[in-house]
Amino acid sequence: MCGIVAYLGSKDAYPILINGLYKLEYRGYDSAGVAILDKELSVYKTKGKVSKLDQFVEDKNTGGSIGIAHTRWATHGEPNTENAHPHYSMNKKIAIIHNGIIENYATLKEELKGRGYTFNSETDTEVLANLIEDVMHNESCSLQEAVLIALNQVVGAYALVVISEGEPDSLIAARKGSPMVIGIGGDDDFFIASDATPIIEYTKNVVYMNDEEIAILKKGEPLKIKTIANKDKTPYVQELEFNLNALEKGGFEHFMLKEIYEQPTSIRDSLRGRLRAKEGVVSLGGIVDYEQKIVHANKIIMIACGTSWHACLVGEYLFEDLARIPVEVEYASEFRYRNPIITENDVVIAVSQSGETADTLAAIELAKEKGATVLGVCNVVGSSISRATHAGSYTHAGPEIGVASTKAFTAQVTVLTMMALRMAQLKGTIPTSRFMQLLHEMEAIPDKVEAVLNDDGVAKQIAEKYQQATNFLYLGRGYNFPVALEGALKLKEISYIHAEGYPAAEMKHGPIALIDKDMPVVFIATNNVIYEKVVSNIQEVKARNGNVIAIVTQGDKVVRGLADYVIEIPATEDMFVPLLASIPLQKLAYYIAVMRGCNVDQPRNLAKSVTVE
Ligand code: AGP
Ligand code: GLU
Repeated sequence: MCGIVAYLGSKDAYPILINGLYKLEYRGYDSAGVAILDKELSVYKTKGKVSKLDQFVEDKNTGGSIGIAHTRWATHGEPNTENAHPHYSMNKKIAIIHNGIIENYATLKEELKGRGYTFNSETDTEVLANLIEDVMHNESCSLQEAVLIALNQVVGAYALVVISEGEPDSLIAARKGSPMVIGIGGDDDFFIASDATPIIEYTKNVVYMNDEEIAILKKGEPLKIKTIANKDKTPYVQELEFNLNALEKGGFEHFMLKEIYEQPTSIRDSLRGRLRAKEGVVSLGGIVDYEQKIVHANKIIMIACGTSWHACLVGEYLFEDLARIPVEVEYASEFRYRNPIITENDVVIAVSQSGETADTLAAIELAKEKGATVLGVCNVVGSSISRATHAGSYTHAGPEIGVASTKAFTAQVTVLTMMALRMAQLKGTIPTSRFMQLLHEMEAIPDKVEAVLNDDGVAKQIAEKYQQATNFLYLGRGYNFPVALEGALKLKEISYIHAEGYPAAEMKHGPIALIDKDMPVVFIATNNVIYEKVVSNIQEVKARNGNVIAIVTQGDKVVRGLADYVIEIPATEDMFVPLLASIPLQKLAYYIAVMRGCNVDQPRNLAKSVTVE
């Protein structure tokens, strides 16, 4: 993880760097630092958030028009000032920022120590700084050449930027496995960042770096890109599309709340142009060429992590239910290391909000090696996953800044629903009348989401009542099982209350032992074919003095009679319930976290995109 920003040009670097760090803080926030080159190379860093760094440098000289900055999410060495980036090399003439992990750092460190190098931190990154200094010293070469030679000795993942006092007009950047984008502004301005958000206010012209590429940025010269095998490449300049307002809180107290409330819009944006109920059309432009491949697939393997994995579970139920294609849902981190059976007749669908999750990316590479067709469902346009896959569909939810994923989840489910519907149409697995009915209902979902959002009262009351609970259980069956998992994940991520999601019927095989008068149990108990069974599960909890909070279909009487609290959602098709039922659970987690005084947008220990293994 970590956020990286760098600037080289005619303006004062510090304001650009610090503003960029604030925008990237969602990627990591345990410590932050900046290096500015103004005759001398000065590094300022501190433990804590970006605002602490900003205060810390108040009385320091931050003048200079070239610099690098970093907000960290520690992998090697605890979050403290010494381990914060940038890291100087031993002679303090070179500084580096890095996102990723240098896997062979221990061996390199021993070798460097043997050659007299000393270290001030426990990080893998500092090893790179000294390695570059060592190469420059031994080979009497330029910074660019030294970075190239050093990177050829490195095993691992990186997005890095290096600055050297000896070459005050240049920055060298490199990427392998961690994201990095370069902005090209007017007035010879260059910007580098982990994603485009810090760049957008200065320029829309960007170059996304590919793996194993080095960028050479020099004042007054055009951008140069090389591979780490030293081959020249022509930079591919693209125009960014998103607007700046999408990155502001827009009057909401937190990004997460804003993003929860954006869901009618984000789901509409996901559907736009793709689902036209009246005409009986559902079509995803990005995967049209692969439709036959999916229809005839041996099986579909969906891979993802965290919330995106929950969206895949909903996807599994949808594809099997509607299109009768067998689906396996895999944690990317498990899939990549367990020698899975994949053939050329399989279609892999990788789902990711950020499009940068390291495990998902590695799983994609593995699936490609085995000859499978790999499709992506990503939110971030131009992200690594969107580029690594053969084709894909964007979710179009807009930038999601809150670390806890909300609108990205419902957009992922929306896209997977459209894919499943399209496959059902192509395979003829459901009658046309039913297909048309489903398209119409899907079109009505954004309005129903709006209705769920407008009904706020109970969620706050429930939050008041259970904010001090230490455990929560979330139970659901069928399409509501992934919703239970997602509800539990939201709560634990942002409120630090332990929460478990389970298939409701599994409760009696273990979790029931936990139920007592202090245990709130959230049931997703909407009207469907297994409603009666879920009602029995609720009875079982009540019989043991548990507290029941239930998400029910509007007008429900039976569960209302049993539960301590009910939250109603509008009636819809069972397969669309996750899009409605997940929303009150997002809100519940949000209110509880706020009442407990937690940092909702930046929960402890987490980061928005997990670009390390
Ligand atoms: C969601 O609330 C989490 N913060 C996390 O589980 C996330 O969904 C996961 O890291 C996957 O991220 P991605 O969708 O960007 O690949
Ligand atoms: N490995 C580096 C560190 O621990 C960078 C961490 C990261 O990118 O998350 O400082």
